[in-house]
Amino acid sequence: MAPYETLLVDEKEEVAVVTLNRPGKLNALSLTLLSELDMLMGEIDSRDDLKAVVVTGGLEVFCAGADISIFPGLGSPEEAYTFVQQIKRCLSSLRRLSKPSIAAICGMALGGGLELSLYCDIRISAIDSRLGLPEINLGAFPAAGGTQLLPRLVGSSIAKELLFRGEPITAQEALQIGLVNRVLPKEQVLPEAVKMARDFARKPAYAIRTIKRIVNTGLQMDIDRALTYESASFLGIWSSHDFKEGYSAFLSKRKPEFRGR
Ligand code: COA
Repeated sequence: MAPYETLLVDEKEEVAVVTLNRPGKLNALSLTLLSELDMLMGEIDSRDDLKAVVVTGGLEVFCAGADISIFPGLGSPEEAYTFVQQIKRCLSSLRRLSKPSIAAICGMALGGGLELSLYCDIRISAIDSRLGLPEINLGAFPAAGGTQLLPRLVGSSIAKELLFRGEPITAQEALQIGLVNRVLPKEQVLPEAVKMARDFARKPAYAIRTIKRIVNTGLQMDIDRALTYESASFLGIWSSHDFKEGYSAFLSKRKPEFRGR
């Protein structure tokens, strides 16, 4: 892996654990961090031996959002537009990644920090974490994808309440609205995320890739097209080695040997 200034990368067998690393700045998203994240996801995608990603901020804070010191430098509408597009392009690298991604959230996940986690497939949170979109308190809205990704996850009414109020919610509340998948004591968050990622890593990789793609893409379609898209995607599975191996192994009562294709 290339050395990164704002990210730490630890390979735990088939899982890449990525730690946001701007300690004095509560892991606020600088332009360097964003472009490094984009580059790193590209690297991970090209590595066949890495099969899942966990993103964390460490034990104390997940991320306090976009680096606010960038805003005064956005002198023109063009610069402001380019900036928010750039954040989205970089964070979308987690969505584009053909492998599962899990956000392991300890401490605060605010603004762009929460948005970053929304680009992940799954979120696991510490009991004492706080999650929110405080941009309204700056006279703005979360423009790194928050107004679009959050309603798709929790529904528009709950999302609007979070966007209008700007107050962080507890992890338990986040669990109730479906914003996070699991809530655990802080020390168990990363181990559980890595364990879950390893479980995914051991599944047939071609089917995992296909599921991620069809869920993400299908959500953007009307239901009839989405159902047809699912059928078309099944043809890829039907002709894959792993599906033939999966059903043959079942029928001959042996353990399948998947090859990820
Ligand atoms: N951008 C840039 N710097 C940030 C930041 C952000 N989003 N959030 C925190 N920091 C910096 C602070 O400026 C401070 O730096 P300094 O020590 O050089 O002054 C450092 O991180 C610690 O933050 P501080 O505010 O002192 O910590 P706190 O524990 O008192 O408060 C928060 C924590 C998260 C409540 C508070 O930092 C905050 O409200 N941050 C902004 C959250 C936000 O609005 N995010 C959306 C951005 S669009």
